[in-house]
Amino acid sequence: MATSTKIEDTLGRGVRDLRISVTDRCNFRCPYCMPAEIFGERYEFLKREEILSFEEIVRLARLFVGFGVEKVRITGGEPLVRADLTELIARLAEIDGVEDLAMTTNGFLLPRYAQDLKNAGLNRLTVSMDALDDDVFKEMSGRPYGPEKVIEGMDAARDAGFSPLKINTVVQRGVNEHTLLATAEYFRETGDIVRFIEFMDVGTLNDWDMSQVVSGKEIVDIIGAEYPLEPIDANYRGEVASRYRYLDGRGEIGVITSVTQPFCGDCTRARLTTEGRLVTCLFATVGTDLKPPMRDGATDDELNKIIERIWLNRRDRYSELRSSNTDIGAAVVGREKIEMFRLGG
Ligand code: GTP
Ligand code: 5AD
Ligand code: SF4
Ligand code: SF4
Repeated sequence: MATSTKIEDTLGRGVRDLRISVTDRCNFRCPYCMPAEIFGERYEFLKREEILSFEEIVRLARLFVGFGVEKVRITGGEPLVRADLTELIARLAEIDGVEDLAMTTNGFLLPRYAQDLKNAGLNRLTVSMDALDDDVFKEMSGRPYGPEKVIEGMDAARDAGFSPLKINTVVQRGVNEHTLLATAEYFRETGDIVRFIEFMDVGTLNDWDMSQVVSGKEIVDIIGAEYPLEPIDANYRGEVASRYRYLDGRGEIGVITSVTQPFCGDCTRARLTTEGRLVTCLFATVGTDLKPPMRDGATDDELNKIIERIWLNRRDRYSELRSSNTDIGAAVVGREKIEMFRLGG
């Protein structure tokens, strides 16, 4: 194994989390991510030879662990549509130094895979659920079915031992803000942790504007008016969600305030796209392609040098700039960005 050590970027941030997108495909068509008009029958997703193999993913994950990565999160598209995913999970779980192996999924295929994922060594599961209301669920998932299958998937996941689950709820004004309380109530009962996410300007396809954002503060006010809340400390430095606990002791929620209260200062996340690009910010315009050197026979040391150079030069803090209300802020908002379904959030 090549030697490497912990590294810090230009803002003193280490690399502690690696988010790996394992497919650009998805069985949902959430309008804010993969609008059905664009991602129809004819849309050309990546071909098999274009995407990283399990061997390539595991090799890169090991190299990142050498630089300080302890958390690995599998994302997509929808990770569970990639064939034999549990095999990849088992191989990642074996890597010495991966302390936390998690996955973000839309939950639709969990009835089939939850137990296998647990057996393979996955530690934690996050399920996206924007609304439990039938019509709102259909609207936000872009598919003609209600939430039953995902509810079944969450039940299967809890039965398999993934408890508490984390639930990701994207909040879009005029679309699901009237359902937030019902969502919070449901997951108070199941004992899961809902994180309400401010609608972000990721990618280029969702016609984002500020009027669609419900701020974390407003979300806490809506839920707190019914079930009083108080802020609590983060679980770890750099946690994306701000946590609040119910005063009656019935669990907690989180808000992810990337728009109104950015958290770039502690951002230790690297992202690997399905086709092998290393991306250092959710809002990046480009990434560095690690696949050509890997397929041209680069050694671990050579790959390490590339990774190190990118991280040492990293200066990303998109959300902070966006919020700064300066010319730079205005300029970053308008620029080209990699689509969310390629980066996995
Ligand atoms: P934990 O390990 O459980 O704390 O998970 P997490 O919060 O890292 O997990 P998850 O991937 O579920 O993150 C929730 C959501 O927060 C993502 O889907 C994104 O929408 C958003 N998010 C995560 N990381 C970043 C980030 O680096 N920048 C921004 N702007 N948003 C992020
Ligand atoms: N804003 C906020 N969250 C988003 N997600 C996808 N697109 C956006 C957006 N524009 C969420 C998904 C999922 C996670 C991977 O990111 O709903 O929970
Ligand atoms: Fe699929 Fe997730 Fe994108 Fe929805 S947000 S289309 S579930 S990848
Ligand atoms: Fe990290 Fe970029 Fe998100 Fe800031 S905007 S927290 S730098 S991924």
